[in-house]
Amino acid sequence: MVKETLLLTIAVLGGTGKEGKGLAYRWAKAGYQVLIGSRYSEKAVTVASEIMELLEGESSIVGATNREVAQQADIVVVTVPYSGHREILESVKEVLTGKLVIDTTVPLVPPKVSRVQMPPAGSAAQEAREILGENVEVVAAFQNISYEHLLNDEEVECDVLVTGSSKKARQEALMLVEAAGLVGWDAGPIENSVVVEGLTSVLININKQYGSTHAGIKITGAQKPSAE
Ligand SMILES: NC(=O)c1ccc[n+]([C@@H]2O[C@H](COP(=O)([O-])OP(=O)(O)OC[C@H]3O[C@@H](n4cnc5c(N)ncnc54)[C@H](OP(=O)(O)O)[C@@H]3O)[C@@H](O)[C@H]2O)c1
Repeated sequence: MVKETLLLTIAVLGGTGKEGKGLAYRWAKAGYQVLIGSRYSEKAVTVASEIMELLEGESSIVGATNREVAQQADIVVVTVPYSGHREILESVKEVLTGKLVIDTTVPLVPPKVSRVQMPPAGSAAQEAREILGENVEVVAAFQNISYEHLLNDEEVECDVLVTGSSKKARQEALMLVEAAGLVGWDAGPIENSVVVEGLTSVLININKQYGSTHAGIKITGAQKPSAE
């Protein structure tokens, strides 16, 4: 579905925010062409230059509106709050045909964010699949990764569970997980995203009760095939 080189272009919708900015930084550092999307073009340009400063000239990042970057990219990553999820997907739907969409959204309903509250579709990722239709592959990933250490190159002590509409799409997303310096697992079909998205509220609950800021999860008892 997408080009198989490190020259892939990744658009991060809502890339001006906490999670999107951190992921964008890591992918740009790994050699991908990264585009920052925002509802406001000027804000996107400002954040793109902030990330470039962190990268000390290693990479160039472009900022533009969500629709413009979605149009130009091979892979589109959604990093907006659940309250804007449906609207943003509907606004870029037309330019997503044949692309891979990676949805990081957790369907949190403030103020009770430490309680699992799933939407009628089952999960935010399933809702994305319903909105975007059969011609767009949707993968859910990064829901359990706190933004906190993404910008400072620290090791993130949390694995990434990747669920999605096809195995191929999950494999493509897993390459981006690794490129971001994280450990990813193929966690199966998109229906399984219910558990992964719900787990975020469990982790928020643990953070509240134990005074932490980035509780995470690790898969044990399984081994990934060693790289050739
Ligand atoms: N923060 C985390 O640690 C974390 C961890 C795992 C998953 N996530 C998920 O990642 C997503 C983003 O989280 P975040 O903490 O990065 O959020 P955020 O910083 O509050 O917002 C991200 C960006 O979304 C855009 N936005 C805000 N409201 C919007 C709306 N109604 N419609 C369209 N765009 C809107 C804004 O960009 P513009 O104003 O530039 O358009 C904002 O910069 C959420 O779904 C969250 O569940 C977050």
